[in-house]
Amino acid sequence: MITIRAPGKVILYGEHAVVYGEPALAMAINKYLYVTARARDDNKININARDLRLAGISVTISEGGDVVAKTDYGAVISALSYVKRAIELAMEYLDKKVGIDLEIRSEMPVGAGLGTSAAVAVATILAYAKELGYDIDKRELSRLAWQVEKDVQGSASPTDTTMATFGGIMYIKPEGNNTVMEPVKPGANVPLIIGYVPRISTTKDLVAMVRRKYEIMRNIIEPIIKSIGLITKKGREALEMGDLELMGTLMNINHGLLDALGVSTRQLNDMVYAARHAGALGSKLTGAGGGGCMIALSDRIEVEKAIELTGGSVLRAGLDTNGATIVSND
Ligand code: MEV
Repeated sequence: MITIRAPGKVILYGEHAVVYGEPALAMAINKYLYVTARARDDNKININARDLRLAGISVTISEGGDVVAKTDYGAVISALSYVKRAIELAMEYLDKKVGIDLEIRSEMPVGAGLGTSAAVAVATILAYAKELGYDIDKRELSRLAWQVEKDVQGSASPTDTTMATFGGIMYIKPEGNNTVMEPVKPGANVPLIIGYVPRISTTKDLVAMVRRKYEIMRNIIEPIIKSIGLITKKGREALEMGDLELMGTLMNINHGLLDALGVSTRQLNDMVYAARHAGALGSKLTGAGGGGCMIALSDRIEVEKAIELTGGSVLRAGLDTNGATIVSND
């Protein structure tokens, strides 16, 4: 039996634009998704994932080796889709199909924009491989997990899966099927407060919505996306110089452009503006939007209180530097 953990992440700059090849700057957080795997001697795959609201779902490998989910729970199925596709790809990659019991737990709100689906994909693939006695290189792991996201969502950048695999603070630029990733050393401690509200749209739908706008009015949307790319580059410089004021200003501009793309919501905007009003150096939504999470550049208790007063919840998180790791191996 093996337990793997993979971290969540926040995107400091660049969400959505990164789907179009622009860079993103992301930070892995010390909140984790855990997958415990135990090999079986039949061909069944049992997934017990209370935090993903998947408890007791039983999945069987069919004759041809496909993983077949026996049930359909509407919205819940989207979380299951990541687990299911992760197992399929791990089986294909290792060329080994055995039944397995999986238990999945999360310290983060699931589907809130903190990268839980990427962490599920990464931790499931690594747990399956390790439980069967295989080693898997981190580059390969993050490539496979990215494939899971692309297959389930239709379109995805490598940002979340890179962060769940490697941890740290990373400048990520997709180049075709490859990912340029450069670890970034901050010039100062970056205090972040995370606020979240329930999601009203999925990442898949939001990415598709931006894509539709891009196709219908490319001359308007493309400059916004390019501008977000420039903000990310400048944001990286500001982070390396430890210039928190500049980082905050860039976060504010980035949020405005994300709002212009239509991915913010009233509740997200309320949290973002309340945080600034309470003294945050900057604030923006983080992740895909449609509800979910925002970040405020601050360590002030007043900022936390202001976020809570809008009806949001506050999550305290620091930096994760390890990425996906084995927690226990019995
Ligand atoms: C989701 O955390 C970030 C998006 O840019 C989608 C992606 O990068 O795949 C919205």
